[in-house]
Amino acid sequence: MTDPAFFAALQQNLRKIMSADWPYPFWIAHRGAGKRAPENTLAAFREGAAQGFRMFECDVKLSADDVPFLLHDSALERTTSGLGTAGERPWAALSQLDAGSWHGARHAGEAMPTLLAIARFVLANGLAVNLEIKSTPGVETRTGERVARAAAQLWAGSAPPPLLSSFEVPALEAAAAAAPALPRALLLDELWAGWFETAQRLACRAVVTHYSLMDAAMVQRLHRAGMRALVYTVNERADLVAMRAAGVDGVITDEVERYAAEARAER
Ligand code: G3P
Ligand code: MG
Repeated sequence: MTDPAFFAALQQNLRKIMSADWPYPFWIAHRGAGKRAPENTLAAFREGAAQGFRMFECDVKLSADDVPFLLHDSALERTTSGLGTAGERPWAALSQLDAGSWHGARHAGEAMPTLLAIARFVLANGLAVNLEIKSTPGVETRTGERVARAAAQLWAGSAPPPLLSSFEVPALEAAAAAAPALPRALLLDELWAGWFETAQRLACRAVVTHYSLMDAAMVQRLHRAGMRALVYTVNERADLVAMRAAGVDGVITDEVERYAAEARAER
């Protein structure tokens, strides 16, 4: 005879175990909330938080003097007033650049934030963060090591910890060595040979793919291996429906306004 109370208690315990194992919300704003405000700036984080998002993906790299800061591209031209390779400049120079005017006059003068500034904002507001280690080519190991070490110090004793992700295996290896306790995720824009074994070897807690690569079979394969399945960058409603049906554990989106009600409902 099945006892419904027993199964209800079991399910509740399982939910507790699952949420302790994965303390992150389903909805993650991409590059802060990089369409409504300049990507990877504090203005973007504020925008996403105002729309109800509780987790933020952002791209972290190193200045020439090893200060971790937020920028997507290796080159400064697209999103700042600077020229050339960001990673070749000291933070004193990078901090003077305008990372807002390209987006619109409303954000003129917005600076590229340091990881320290992002940690302060996220921690003060009870938010979660996915730090994508986006190295300047050639310094993947140093970037993984420095970003992970800085993140471990900045978030010490705070929950949830930052989720460290990267397309760069050497960066994740270095992050694992420098801060083994911080959760890691392997990012994939193609299913290269050995990706699954690499994610397991790096003790990744999640794999994050472009949504076109994810389906129910892959979600199940990851879940069976104890990993979560996340996808980027899900903007269209039809793609969201497909990803929900596949059973993904989280989506990274640019469309913070479109999905504000759903993100808010998660609270
Ligand atoms: O972290 C997911 C996503 O941000 C990866 O692509 O180019 O936007 O950093 P990208
Ligand atoms: Mg990114």
